[in-house]
Amino acid sequence: PVADLSSLVIFGITGDLARKKLVPAIYDLAHCGQLPAGFDLVGFARDAANSEPVLRESVIAHARRPFDPAVWQALTQRIHLVEGSFDDPGGFTQLASLLAVLDQRRGKPDNYVFYLSVPPSAFATVCGRLAVVGLNRPARGWRRVVVEKPFGHDLPSSRALEVVLAQYFPPSSIYRIDHYLGKETVQNILALRFANGMFEPLWNNRHIDHVQITMAESVGVTGRAGYYDGVGAARDVIQNHLLQLLALIAMEEPVGFDADSIAAEKVKILSATELLGPLDQTSARGQYGPGIDDDVRLPGLTEEDGFPADSSTETFAALTVGITTRRWAGVPFYIRTGKRLARRTTEIAVTFTPPAHGSPAARAAGVSNVLVFRVQPDDGIELHIGAKRPGGGMQIQPVSLGMDFRSVFDPAPEAYERLIGDVLRGDGTLFPRRAEVEHSWRIIDPLLQHWATAGRPGTYPAGTSGPASADDILSRSGRVWRTL
Ligand code: BG6
Repeated sequence: PVADLSSLVIFGITGDLARKKLVPAIYDLAHCGQLPAGFDLVGFARDAANSEPVLRESVIAHARRPFDPAVWQALTQRIHLVEGSFDDPGGFTQLASLLAVLDQRRGKPDNYVFYLSVPPSAFATVCGRLAVVGLNRPARGWRRVVVEKPFGHDLPSSRALEVVLAQYFPPSSIYRIDHYLGKETVQNILALRFANGMFEPLWNNRHIDHVQITMAESVGVTGRAGYYDGVGAARDVIQNHLLQLLALIAMEEPVGFDADSIAAEKVKILSATELLGPLDQTSARGQYGPGIDDDVRLPGLTEEDGFPADSSTETFAALTVGITTRRWAGVPFYIRTGKRLARRTTEIAVTFTPPAHGSPAARAAGVSNVLVFRVQPDDGIELHIGAKRPGGGMQIQPVSLGMDFRSVFDPAPEAYERLIGDVLRGDGTLFPRRAEVEHSWRIIDPLLQHWATAGRPGTYPAGTSGPASADDILSRSGRVWRTL
């Protein structure tokens, strides 16, 4: 199905995302011979015209594969740059003629992917301009539209964006990208749960005490004020990436591994998910202040370029959700994320209930059975158990059984490489559906509203594990976060 692709048009080709992720991913696809024959990449941006050197640099810096001048040279023959702003009709007229020429030259139908690597506020303008020049409706071919997260800033605005897109494109042609679903370890959650017999019998509120989902980043938001200020950690990654992880951990077994069956189960579980309150005890937020890492002073958020001194954007968010199903009633799911934390790690830790009459030795040794999905950086799976220490007496020690993906499998494609390949192939399995996106907003909206009226968040020193208020969420029930 890839062979009939005509052109992939990236709106915002010179933007941060396109330079760091999209163009390098396309280069990687070219490098491993995965681009369809006759593929053309059209880049559209206000400053697109002379951007080849910039794109080349970004490939050198960010592609997974080594830079091969011959591969880049061949790819640049297929890259066409159109200069225009999104509200300038001239640029779109030029785009339409370019696409027609490319189709004609290669004798291809009008099959186009439009990648909107632009702020959601520009969706309506771009789609409207495409419609004016007749590009939204195919003559003989098809259209696919890729939109980036966060899709809106709350449930009503997300719905409004869907209405805009639906005016111009049929639902089946819309690909909402969430790059976490392109990560191999994330896809492995379903494999581990459903390809093995031993986990499912335990996968419920009789055997699971709680689940922790952590996405900690050591980087800050330097250079991203335009996007991040006013958005914050909950909208940036919890509404999308982390609630998708939750859906995969908690959903029922799908009847098949096709797009519709998986989406049906994800929608069901997200529709049963809700914040647990009271929110000032079950959630926390913070903003990084200055800190020290390896004797280097790290700036606080409000010292970063473009952030106002009174910014109330949170860079750390933690919350508690529950799932009202027979399987999960009573099991808290704790979710946390933050920038400028002590280290970079994304993981899901499922903590099993201790034995009813646990051995005193095991209790004394602090043994708890935890199954950890390490998404990154050292992707793998580990299971914590207790074992007897050699020698006299019964001394129990926590130990772990582990599997590192890298030592077992060849390196996986980068998430964007995988997902762009899927869009080109027309495979929507790894793309959240509208209902998933809307349920995720419904879940976090009350917390966003709560914070909106609660003033500025407190600060935590950069390079630490976040605000103390996050620890309080768990300590109220005698639990602790896993150490970062
Ligand atoms: C993006 C967020 O979606 O994911 C960024 O906008 C974040 O703020 C990034 O840094 C993290 O992605 P990854 O793949 O490095 O975990």
